[in-house]
Amino acid sequence: MTKKVLVFASGNGSNFEAIVKYFYNKGLTCINGKTISDAAPQVIFELLCDKKEAYVLKRAKNLGIRSFYVKFDTLADFLTQQKGDYDLFVLAGFMRILPEKILKILAPAPVINIHPSLLPKFKGKDAIERAFREGVKKTGVTVHYVTKNVDSGKIIEQREVQTAGLSLDGLEARIHSIEHSMYPEIIEKLLFKRRVLVFGGGARENAIAAKIKKSPYLDKLFLAGANDGFKNLGENIEFIDYNDLLKKALTNGVDMLVVGPENPLCEGIADIFNKEGINVIGVNKYWAQLEGSKIFAKKFMQKHGIKTADYKVVTAESELLAALKDFKKRNNNAPPVIKADGLALGKGVSVPDTFDEAESIAKSFLEGKFGKASSRIILEERLSGVEVSIMSLWDGDTLVSFPPASDYKRLLDDNRGENTGGMGAYAPSKILIKQKKQVNKYLKVLQSALKSEKTDFTGVLYSGLMLAKDDAYVLEYNVRFGDPEIQALLELLDDTKGADLLDIFIKMGEKRLNEVDLKFKRTGTYCVTLASSGYPENPEKGAQISGINSALKQGCKVYFAGVKNDCLCQAAENCTSALASCNLVTNGGRVLSLVKSGKNARDIVYRAAETIKYKGKIFRKDIGL
Ligand code: AMP
Ligand code: GLY
Repeated sequence: MTKKVLVFASGNGSNFEAIVKYFYNKGLTCINGKTISDAAPQVIFELLCDKKEAYVLKRAKNLGIRSFYVKFDTLADFLTQQKGDYDLFVLAGFMRILPEKILKILAPAPVINIHPSLLPKFKGKDAIERAFREGVKKTGVTVHYVTKNVDSGKIIEQREVQTAGLSLDGLEARIHSIEHSMYPEIIEKLLFKRRVLVFGGGARENAIAAKIKKSPYLDKLFLAGANDGFKNLGENIEFIDYNDLLKKALTNGVDMLVVGPENPLCEGIADIFNKEGINVIGVNKYWAQLEGSKIFAKKFMQKHGIKTADYKVVTAESELLAALKDFKKRNNNAPPVIKADGLALGKGVSVPDTFDEAESIAKSFLEGKFGKASSRIILEERLSGVEVSIMSLWDGDTLVSFPPASDYKRLLDDNRGENTGGMGAYAPSKILIKQKKQVNKYLKVLQSALKSEKTDFTGVLYSGLMLAKDDAYVLEYNVRFGDPEIQALLELLDDTKGADLLDIFIKMGEKRLNEVDLKFKRTGTYCVTLASSGYPENPEKGAQISGINSALKQGCKVYFAGVKNDCLCQAAENCTSALASCNLVTNGGRVLSLVKSGKNARDIVYRAAETIKYKGKIFRKDIGL
């Protein structure tokens, strides 16, 4: 696969040289006819310069790169002749604004530029000097698409530079060195875009897929198990088992798998895909036990001094009474929380109010309420405090976390009613500074624990924390993003500043999470789950849903979970749009998530919740209060 890039430059050309050398060092291009790897060069660079005396022309000559000197007033003619050959146009110190006429000639290949400020600040000339004179605390570098307006196209990536202690020369040197490492990497990612497969069929996976779909680094999106509400976001792959899915993924050139739910992770999907060299965002089978076995998780916590509730393992009914008695003594007569050791569809935790209740629940678990998953249970000390969910990313070396999110697990307002899969979320959680410190301290301990175990997975670790009076205690680990927390958290990621989920995942695969600085909007985000009456035990199904488009128009994001396209129109077989003309009906307990951040977000999200209509609709009214 050979790619061709035309670099536009007018001056010194240090960025041009940095780009060419970066690709040369990776064995991807030639310098003076030579590559450093045996593989044929895959990227051909050419230079276009509008100044006859510019030093960049000399650099090109020294590097053996073909160059063109083109006077600006003949540029349109020149490009018309060259058109069609290039995959990417790169402006690297080109001192001219490209008028619309020229941009039209260059299309459809993208045109990108690098600018030495945090756009939209300090557009145009002398950006570094102007930022310095104004005494800003931070400035930086932006790579963006080029439009006819100066430095105004969509931002691809930004990196910040702190100005403290730097002279103007120092700041310039710092910015240029960032440019030289940042620009080539972005060019590489734009030339070799990713084919990503998202696994899972809920609102969480809808939100993840929608975010990835927006990435400049995506070539093609594939979906496995998507519901009818979002299957139009990508190409759907049907599969029999994970090996079959792997085969089809390889045929389609998929190079990244993002796994939503826990079951496939516990069953080892990451190991299966990793073996074939596919990047997986999701833990391997061994570490999936952090969610798949409460006993495994407890042992991990104990080993690493991670605070968690006191507990006792019970592996047979015959041990139960003695264990309860012992527990009673140890915990001032308070009844224990009962937890199935294994995965139980989110229903394996019970918080009884009396010992009698605890005993009968524990018995039912051990007698096989959840099959093998509850053949071993734990009795756990009941904690009180404020619950938060922390989503962390781990690349084998570095832990990067989202801000705390609040999950609304109970069915009814004021946290009454049954435990559900999640009736809504609010992020960032409204917690005290003292509690934030507890969280940060905990995350440091977690990072060292993961490091000392040499955990080699690339994936997500979700800590369910109880912020008690004295400290943060872990209630549970999950090995995937929380649903609905991640719907809210992804909305907080600030893509106007180039915070790109796929890029974060790419960096995870390269073990470079330490370079990721998650940027978040400074607002709250609300996620409200619309569910069906009868949820969670026995939800109604088959009710026709209307009002989706109006909710979208109101500025709300809609992510689908329990829905089905019941379209009977003639186009049904080829119908890919569940939203436009077809008949979307309810098909599960949690039907969809509504998400909004920013000004009046709560009002907007609740207006949308009213706008969307179907028989049996239920939702909580107190999310984020
Ligand atoms: P899950 O494991 O997501 O089904 O969560 C069950 C819920 O039970 C948690 O979110 C808590 O609200 C509650 N819970 C779990 N463990 C404890 C505990 N040790 N003390 C108090 N509440 C708990
Ligand atoms: N929202 C809780 C979970 O995903 O388990």
